[in-house]
Amino acid sequence: MPNSIMDTFKLSDGNEIPMEGFGTYKINEQSEMDAAIKMAYEVGYRLFDTAQFYGNEAVLGQAIKNNGIARGDIFITTKIPEPKQGYDSTLKAVDESLQRLQTDYLDLVLVHWPIHSEFFNTWRALEDAKAAGKIKSIGVSNYHRTHLEFLKTQAREMPVVNQIEDHPYLSQPTMVDFNKQAGILTQAWSPLGRGAVLKDPVIAKIGAAHNKSVAQVILRWHLQRGVSIIPKSGKPERVKQNADIYDFTLSDEEMNMINDLNKNQRTGDDPELVYELEHQYH
Ligand SMILES: NC(=O)c1ccc[n+]([C@@H]2O[C@H](COP(=O)([O-])OP(=O)(O)OC[C@H]3O[C@@H](n4cnc5c(N)ncnc54)[C@H](OP(=O)(O)O)[C@@H]3O)[C@@H](O)[C@H]2O)c1
Repeated sequence: MPNSIMDTFKLSDGNEIPMEGFGTYKINEQSEMDAAIKMAYEVGYRLFDTAQFYGNEAVLGQAIKNNGIARGDIFITTKIPEPKQGYDSTLKAVDESLQRLQTDYLDLVLVHWPIHSEFFNTWRALEDAKAAGKIKSIGVSNYHRTHLEFLKTQAREMPVVNQIEDHPYLSQPTMVDFNKQAGILTQAWSPLGRGAVLKDPVIAKIGAAHNKSVAQVILRWHLQRGVSIIPKSGKPERVKQNADIYDFTLSDEEMNMINDLNKNQRTGDDPELVYELEHQYH
């Protein structure tokens, strides 16, 4: 259990990753990104999560430069989108991300969603880009257990991270458990559930008892389950608030009260459909 936002977790490949990072989805304006990254860095975030699909890699790369942040001090994650999957196009996409982010290595690259036609080719490209030193760690996103078991039939190395939608209304206990048994870190996307969960009365009551907001209780619950988090906010006050979760502990009873809120309710796409359709459908 991390005691500070700067604490790291040792991945199965030996690399270290901060358990809490900063999500950048929908931050596309340079001034908003500059302000968010400034506040995030000041309060201790060291992991920044982007994706080719977000269209903000260049803005993030520039915000890192504008804030005078040393490359070696931070951990950058990006993701390969569905249209770029395939062996050659994934290798090319990695080079494009390096260029846009103004860096010569990426800490973590994820396959954004599994798609059936390029399932193994994309992974082989990431394995090769890692061997070439362009990527430190490779992982996946939105993979179910079946996708991971299928990948294992041909992978030279397995993903060290599986970034999945996870929040109190979709807590995915069996998936989190499977990842753990397989030596894969679960990282929660939409850890705050994009809205509805933030109004939950049970979590609000727990928060009141600890003098913490609903968002802070949810983020703490993830960490106590061993799940990594990448909350997003474009508001500096909330960026700060989301990092202020290391001075209280939820009891087993409070953890179970939140576990019981699960209703298998997705806000995003179902990975199985994306696998079949080969694109997101929202
Ligand atoms: N791998 C994938 O397929 C995938 C999919 C989606 C997202 N992601 C990643 O995961 C990150 C986080 O997910 P997300 O952005 O969808 O959702 P999220 O972090 O669960 O929630 C973000 C929303 O909550 C609000 N918020 C943040 N902190 C708050 C607080 N303390 N109090 C009240 N409201 C708060 C934000 O509004 P304001 O900005 O107005 O504060 C925003 O509307 C993304 O940025 C992205 O990096 C990955």
